[in-house]
Amino acid sequence: MPRVTLTSTTPARLSVDALVVAVAQTGEGRPPRLLAADWLPADLASNLTDLAVPLGATGAVDQVRTIPASGLKAKLVVLTGVGALADGATPEPETLRRAAGAALRELSGVQSVAVALPAADAQQVAAVAEGALFGAYSYTRYVTTPAGAPALAGIEIVTPRAKDKAAVAALSRAEVLAAAVHGVRDLVNAAPNDLFPAAFADAAKTAVKDSGAKGIKVSVLDEKQLAAGGYGGLVGVGQGSVRPPRLVKVSYTPSRPKAKVALVGKGITFDSGGISIKPAAGMDAMKSDMAGAAAVLHTVIAAARLELPVAVTGWLCLAENMPSGTAQRPSDVLTIRGGKTVEVLNTDAEGRLVMADGLVAAVEEKPDVVLDIATLTGAQLIALGPRVSAVMGTDPVRAEVVDAAGASGEQFWPMPLPKDLRPGLNSKVADIANISDRFGGMLTAGIFLQEFVGSTPWAHLDIAGPAFNEKAPFGYTPAGGTGVGVRTLLSLIEGRAGR
Ligand code: BES
Ligand code: MN
Ligand code: ZN
Repeated sequence: MPRVTLTSTTPARLSVDALVVAVAQTGEGRPPRLLAADWLPADLASNLTDLAVPLGATGAVDQVRTIPASGLKAKLVVLTGVGALADGATPEPETLRRAAGAALRELSGVQSVAVALPAADAQQVAAVAEGALFGAYSYTRYVTTPAGAPALAGIEIVTPRAKDKAAVAALSRAEVLAAAVHGVRDLVNAAPNDLFPAAFADAAKTAVKDSGAKGIKVSVLDEKQLAAGGYGGLVGVGQGSVRPPRLVKVSYTPSRPKAKVALVGKGITFDSGGISIKPAAGMDAMKSDMAGAAAVLHTVIAAARLELPVAVTGWLCLAENMPSGTAQRPSDVLTIRGGKTVEVLNTDAEGRLVMADGLVAAVEEKPDVVLDIATLTGAQLIALGPRVSAVMGTDPVRAEVVDAAGASGEQFWPMPLPKDLRPGLNSKVADIANISDRFGGMLTAGIFLQEFVGSTPWAHLDIAGPAFNEKAPFGYTPAGGTGVGVRTLLSLIEGRAGR
């Protein structure tokens, strides 16, 4: 990650490769308005706006235009749109994040950037820093052709509050958050031949170690221990692969915890569907079926790095769902940890099977609240599209998730768990079946999970669409793994810490 600093130096005097400035839309055919640019001499400002027009810079959201700078120490000026904005109004934090992210995403080959967006208080400083860092992500693990230019080294955030304690603290939280989001993206983008369950477990240990965070323990159950411990869901789903399942427990324990939070993540390192195999088209995206587990891992690490006074235990339910002679069959019956039996009528509804084991294990330790996060259903995409995640569960936890998402700039929408969908999961032979009819598939999956949480306050986050961006990048969101979920989970934990 690039180094980020705060500066109160007037942007005109910053010797950087690129200087990012926000522009707002003013109306059809009219030049955009420069924001927070009172440092710009009037003649330069009007020069910039004059140039913006022929470049087609309107100030629209996600629109970035780069102009060679003159009269400034910077080499380039980057105009990034924030959309329409009333005169004198400041953009919302999420608007700032997206504008900063879009600009940083466009910049390649530059080494130093100054971001001069509105950043009058700590909240805005945080938003600009987060957006810039989220946008400054690239995944190069498998690229063997040498990159032309060295990577971006430094980002300066321009703010009158550069020396302010709150702003400095906001920046260091933003850096922790960005490291977590980048960590999730890296895991999601990793090829599934490299990231299989045991490799994921190793990666979890390495990530914890490299973070330098204190108070985290990692323990791993292998396939023999899973079988012995009665984790029938993980064993059943994992048995089709030559690369066996794992259950990873990552626990952060501060000295005087104010609360105890459990996080459970779906970690299917590749979901072929198993014997109920998926169609070939689009199957490649199923390397992202471990995004929930990745979000859980990096949320625990972030909570520890921030030394939050909340005990957080993450459970990563890792398996590879493959068809083979040893794979589970439709009509197999599994016994989940704790004893409930499940008839597997479709091996592609595997996430709920591994999550059931994880939820039972989490609840055994009597946390105050359990949050699970999973790329669980295609129905999530049908219901809410690729950018809005769903949250189900018991209130007030469901509402707490919605609020935490709102505060952190993620989109989570509350969905119900209608009781009348439960009979659809009745099995002729076991306690429950793993599928019902097609309609309301996301809610049915939630109702299935609910069977395994007992009376513990709980919410279920379905991030099937938002976890992986199969389309063009936008704002601070790259193509591929997005890192969704970390910000919401961390913000909820901070809330439980009283922050
Ligand atoms: N991993 C998929 C869900 C998914 C679909 C995630 C698209 C991201 C994008 C999950 O394991 C799955 O296959 N679900 C099935 C369930 C069905 C068989 C009841 C689905 O949604 O089709
Ligand atoms: Mn599946
Ligand atoms: Zn899946």
